Amino acid sequence: MADPVRVGMVGMGTVGQGTVRVLSQNAAEITRRVGRELRLVHVCVRTPSRLENLGFAGRVSTDPWALVGDPELDVLVEVMGGTDLARELLLAAIAAGKHVVTANKALLAEHGEEIFAAAQRHGVMVAFEAAVAGAIPIIKAVREGLAGNRIHWVAGIINGTSNYILSQMFREGWSFAEALAKAQELGYAEADPSLDVDGGDAAHKITLMASIAFGIPVSFAHCHVEGIRQLQGVDVAFAAELGYRIKLLGVARRRSQGVELRVHPTLIPADHLLAHVEGPFNAILVDSDAAGQSLYYGRGAGGDPTASAIVADLVDVARTMTADPCHRVPHLAFQADALEPLPLLPISEIQCAYYLRIQAENRPGVLAQVATLLAEQGISIEALVQKEIPGAATVPIVLLLQQCREGDLDVALQRIQALRVVAEPILRLRVENLREEESFS
Ligand code: HSE
Repeated sequence: MADPVRVGMVGMGTVGQGTVRVLSQNAAEITRRVGRELRLVHVCVRTPSRLENLGFAGRVSTDPWALVGDPELDVLVEVMGGTDLARELLLAAIAAGKHVVTANKALLAEHGEEIFAAAQRHGVMVAFEAAVAGAIPIIKAVREGLAGNRIHWVAGIINGTSNYILSQMFREGWSFAEALAKAQELGYAEADPSLDVDGGDAAHKITLMASIAFGIPVSFAHCHVEGIRQLQGVDVAFAAELGYRIKLLGVARRRSQGVELRVHPTLIPADHLLAHVEGPFNAILVDSDAAGQSLYYGRGAGGDPTASAIVADLVDVARTMTADPCHRVPHLAFQADALEPLPLLPISEIQCAYYLRIQAENRPGVLAQVATLLAEQGISIEALVQKEIPGAATVPIVLLLQQCREGDLDVALQRIQALRVVAEPILRLRVENLREEESFS
């Protein structure tokens, strides 16, 4: 049998510990798959007590640079997070000819171009299955399994924390604040949950997905991001009444003019499979021409599920590290010199259906005024709910609008907001019906 593949790992949090555990528990199975042993020989950990009970017998450093400078290592696994030090470490490891496996979506979304270009120059792999949707092998599915397809769009529930919060708002009738507090208690959300609930984490992931789906450079700066803080229980309830559920969706869609790349709370049909993805689970729906729609579901976070993806990447690296780099799967699914810088569309140019909640005085002519201002922009109303609340000075008017250009809706909304009868800021949510686009047959 060939020599073991020597692996180093920086970071020993939940995911690092999970990786040590999975490598050790499944060592025999992994060796049967690879034909060589994957041996973890050197780890960097600030708190060595984290290694207790993991049975790790290799070298332990507290300085991550000791791993970059370790000539014995074939592969460096980065699970420490952050973007500054992690970027420097990975670039140095790549320059030293080491392959890299990382779970760091923020790093790759923000610095992917630089990191993948460096890897290309040095003929090493940067594997990142664990960066998107935890255990779900979505990178492999899109990059390899769907390689024969032209992908139309990808839509995913890719942040478990916000999905848990929205699930509880729907099921238990909790407010956003109550559901967030519970998510923190259960350890889903960080003490500072902003990356999860403000959409940044999902934006990092959908940015990477867009690159491998369409063969475009990694372009996080152009991703439109909205989180779920502004949602109220009343919107969850109105959505349900209209036959929808609200989910935080990452959407990457190819249009003739360019690519839509966005994360926002979204109404999706209540009878769609994605609407039934509950709690901290993730799911990604891919619409492509030959395969039609395919759906990928599983655990999007946590130590062992994320370790599952990291070890799968290690297996891939070990199988192809001796191959000529041009025979490996390209980092972003398409050959590096064949990436196309398609325009990323500003949010005003997207085409979508919409949900509006307008808090307005209840008197004759109000609806007519709203409908007129929408009609002037060519926007058609699909459904309407108005609920009178006894004793209240204003009523919520909830409208579902047919698909239109967002910039046209912006003009109408400015005018509606300026009406004297409109009492509060209008809430606008996007609606995705997730219908299959035209395929071959
Ligand atoms: N915090 C993320 C989530 C997992 O809640 O899904 C890591 O990206």
